[in-house]
Amino acid sequence: MLDLTENPSLAPSITEARPTLPPARLDALSREIVDLKRRLNAIILAHNYQVAEIQDVADYVGDSLGLAQQAAKTSAEVIVFCGVHFMAETAKILNPNKIVVLPDRDAGCSLEESCPGPKLKALQDTNPNFYTIAYINCSAEVKALSDVICTSGNAVRIVNAAPKDRDLLFVPDENLGAWVTEQTGRPMRLWKGNCYVHVEWTHSSITRIRQQYPGAPVVAHPECTRAVRMLADEVCSTERMVAYCKASAAREFVIATEAGMLHRLRRECPGKTFIPAPTDRCRCNECRFMKMNTLEKLHDCMAKLHPRVELSSEIIERARRPIERMLEISR
Ligand code: 13P
Ligand code: SF4
Repeated sequence: MLDLTENPSLAPSITEARPTLPPARLDALSREIVDLKRRLNAIILAHNYQVAEIQDVADYVGDSLGLAQQAAKTSAEVIVFCGVHFMAETAKILNPNKIVVLPDRDAGCSLEESCPGPKLKALQDTNPNFYTIAYINCSAEVKALSDVICTSGNAVRIVNAAPKDRDLLFVPDENLGAWVTEQTGRPMRLWKGNCYVHVEWTHSSITRIRQQYPGAPVVAHPECTRAVRMLADEVCSTERMVAYCKASAAREFVIATEAGMLHRLRRECPGKTFIPAPTDRCRCNECRFMKMNTLEKLHDCMAKLHPRVELSSEIIERARRPIERMLEISR
């Protein structure tokens, strides 16, 4: 087992992330993006895991639920979605007549990959009484096969609202699903998928950082394993993390989620210190998919209006119903 205190290269950094662009280039690109936004009548929606430069030019930065809610109500003609592909797809499903672009078409998600539509259909065919609850981290095809969608921010509410006479099938995150069962007492059949970033934190890596910062509450995302969730003071969605840290009297927090979250937290809670939770092997708390998006790619996708999210009208129609059901229950 590595001792982080003796391996400074692996010790969590509490300094600000270094900007990835020289200041003059950053400034010029940011100005051009703001100008393009005005000319296109566009809105930039960014997930909490995006790099700092993208968060700083976005109109709205938030979690999957907040982003879906913003997409559902925007009057902008073009939606520029800085997140991963399934999030941009959700925006397109809610806005079939609008242009939805994203900086990098290849920004996927290990959870989405774990659950191909045909495999889900085959499982559903084994039990006509299944009621399928899909975490929003899945493809449009999987959404189209589901009864209702949830995010980490509303999963407990969505499961509590599920019909009592049905067998619940929760896809594709087994950790989020297990956490929701702990909260609601409702047993569910869990798909065996996980987030490759959040399963890197372990009981030992969190115990060690707790010893190093005994006064700092540990805040963890429900995609973490049970061993980590058990050690956390708060388990919640990325948006709820902001509210929790703002309201807490503590001055230091250990954060077990993707590194982009730290920028949002530092911006919203000045004077407080946020320590990225270390893993046993490395400081691998960056999602390679979320980090495919850069300020340059954001600029280019707005200038070229490409890559665009394109979906068949049949998939849009079928996937829209479970998303709208989620938005209705979350109101
Ligand atoms: P949130 O629902 O908190 O935005 O999390 C999304 C996600 O991808 C977590 O890895
Ligand atoms: Fe998917 Fe995990 Fe990346 Fe979130 S952090 S987008 S769940 S791979």
